[in-house]
Amino acid sequence: MDKKIKVSLFGATGYTGIELYRRLKVRDDIEIIDLPSKSSPGKKYSEVVGTTFNLSDEILVDWKPEETVKKSDVVFTALPHGETFDIAKACKTYGKKLIDIGADYRLEKDGYAKWYGLEHRESDLIDEAVYCIPELHRNKLVEGTWLVANPGCYPTSVQLGLAPLIEAGIVETKNIIVDSKSGVSGAGRSLKLVTLYSEQNENVNAYGVGTHRHKPEMERHLQQYTDDKVKIMFTPHLMPMTRGIHSTIYTTLKRDVNEEQIRQVLIDKYKDEYFVKVLNKGVMPHTKWVYGSNFCHINVVLDEDTGNLVILSAIDNLVKGASGQAIQNMNILFGIEEKKGIENYPIFP
Ligand SMILES: NC(=O)c1ccc[n+]([C@@H]2O[C@H](COP(=O)([O-])OP(=O)(O)OC[C@H]3O[C@@H](n4cnc5c(N)ncnc54)[C@H](OP(=O)(O)O)[C@@H]3O)[C@@H](O)[C@H]2O)c1
Repeated sequence: MDKKIKVSLFGATGYTGIELYRRLKVRDDIEIIDLPSKSSPGKKYSEVVGTTFNLSDEILVDWKPEETVKKSDVVFTALPHGETFDIAKACKTYGKKLIDIGADYRLEKDGYAKWYGLEHRESDLIDEAVYCIPELHRNKLVEGTWLVANPGCYPTSVQLGLAPLIEAGIVETKNIIVDSKSGVSGAGRSLKLVTLYSEQNENVNAYGVGTHRHKPEMERHLQQYTDDKVKIMFTPHLMPMTRGIHSTIYTTLKRDVNEEQIRQVLIDKYKDEYFVKVLNKGVMPHTKWVYGSNFCHINVVLDEDTGNLVILSAIDNLVKGASGQAIQNMNILFGIEEKKGIENYPIFP
């Protein structure tokens, strides 16, 4: 490649940032320009991220969004919500691309204020953001797209399973029940009581029942497939595992179709997709089968007794649920082969 793409990562010391770095650093078409840090400017990246010892020569730099943005072709933000506004503004000003792994551009202005408890400081830009799970929304990344709202981890696992069935008019949408399980890396790298080993080992608990911020994100972005109202009851659980999301989605049928016909809708939708695999009848998705990879495994079961349809999906929260998908989006934006840098098979066991 003649000219490398200049990339900067805000939040490179966090879990999703580290996953981004390890995949981008080894590419011959990418040059990492800046790794700004709020807590550790001046330190070696490898001091803060031990996996890069003797591999990385970068020094974390001061948090100066304008300076970093000016030097970059594309910026990734892997930051807590509310931290991306100034960076987005700078990207707009200097005509640079931004892929936000966080949640600052996934909801409309009022929804953001309600669910994140924060006024959006750059709400004019929300309409310019393209929310993109490539297998569902790739065609929305058009020439001129500069801001990508990378979808959340739970919403990715749920939409990949549900969207084709809502689009096909097969499933009821007014009372969808989503029961999801996540590994603790979903909570990020900062110290929290709930992610201490002694608190989470051999423990399972629900949290944010009906109030989790990913509920409105799923509803908003699934609404485009139907005129019926999409309503989701969402219950996430924290599991004693490092990575992985498993979602079990319950709904009922709108039409008289059998399980094979439902599975065929998913197979047809994803037949040309490398990253989404619809499993054979009776084979259930496992988080271990997608660990460390950008794959999503899906299956469906129609319970003849109750008439309920169960849709099951598994992803790695840090890859398809965050950084892998963000790189997939970057590859599309820059006209690079979509799989580049994320095509690896899962790690097993
Ligand atoms: N973890 C997941 O599975 C996952 C999946 C999808 C999306 N996301 C989203 O991606 C974003 C990053 O998640 P993460 O899990 O990578 O988080 P994380 O491990 O906590 O890392 C966040 C990084 O942001 C930087 N930062 C800058 N300002 C900060 C502030 N005011 N408070 C705390 N950190 C600040 C920190 O690095 P410096 O101090 O070096 O600047 C930190 O390393 C979040 O919005 C999250 O919701 C996470």
